[in-house]
Amino acid sequence: MTMTAAGFDYIRRLVLEQSAIVLEEDKQYLVESRLLPLARREGFDSIASMVAWLMARKFDGLQHKVVEAMTTNETSFFRDFHPFEALRKSILPELMPKRAVSKELTFWSAACSSGQEPYSLAILLQEYFPSLADWRLRIIATELSEEMLVRAREGHYSQLEVNRGLPAALLIKYFRQRGSDWQIREDIRRRVEFQILNLAEAWPLLPPMDVVLMRNVLIYFGLDTKKKILGKIRQLLKPDGFLFLGGAETTFNLDDNFERVQFDRTICYRLPRA
Ligand SMILES: C[S@@+](CC[C@H](N)C(=O)[O-])C[C@H]1O[C@@H](n2cnc3c(N)ncnc32)[C@H](O)[C@@H]1O
Repeated sequence: MTMTAAGFDYIRRLVLEQSAIVLEEDKQYLVESRLLPLARREGFDSIASMVAWLMARKFDGLQHKVVEAMTTNETSFFRDFHPFEALRKSILPELMPKRAVSKELTFWSAACSSGQEPYSLAILLQEYFPSLADWRLRIIATELSEEMLVRAREGHYSQLEVNRGLPAALLIKYFRQRGSDWQIREDIRRRVEFQILNLAEAWPLLPPMDVVLMRNVLIYFGLDTKKKILGKIRQLLKPDGFLFLGGAETTFNLDDNFERVQFDRTICYRLPRA
């Protein structure tokens, strides 16, 4: 039995309130395909009966699982490649002399999913910037989904996941084989500080950032939420820091206080220089 119109509305409202993710009216098939496995796991005979059960109760554990089930967690190592090339070839060489006295650099991977993005960054720093060995490098990685955070903290990936984007030489060097899977080396794993953070709610205290990677998450939000989040990033970014968005995302018409910077085949954003 599929969901009623009222049931679908309830799910859309729940997901919007808890995560700011906008589910368009034509996404009922998506909602059903994501909720069916959850309904089965939770012992309901259909999605409709799970939704009816939810609608009769206040927010608790199962509502939370529904929100998690509606997040899209697609990610990969060195996703899109060019942003990481820009970091390696241009951005870090530009920032390092400016931070030579403090010897500190802070990165934020916002909406890090299962951790491939912050680990790609940690590997990049280790592999290409040996002169940063005595610096204080902080990689803060945050995510809404607790399930994803558990996976990210474990740093445990299938063969299929490591095949996506990770050069073989880096796999051999920075991962240990665990049966048919791979786990990231302990010293690299400890470089990343994972924490739960809902971008649509009040943010915990975060340090000023040199580089923010907030990729492939704004696309799920409505206009006002995007604007609010970009405004908050502006407050957090150091005056000479950089923001990366996903390939389908932009600050254009949302927050025109950012300046676009093109590095070879990628675009990122920074605050206009005074
Ligand atoms: C498509 S993944 C992007 C992962 C990674 N940034 C990348 O580009 O490969 C989007 C992630 O955003 C997370 N997300 C969705 N809504 C969120 C919110 N309100 N606050 C924080 N993270 C959220 C999802 O759980 C999901 O893991």
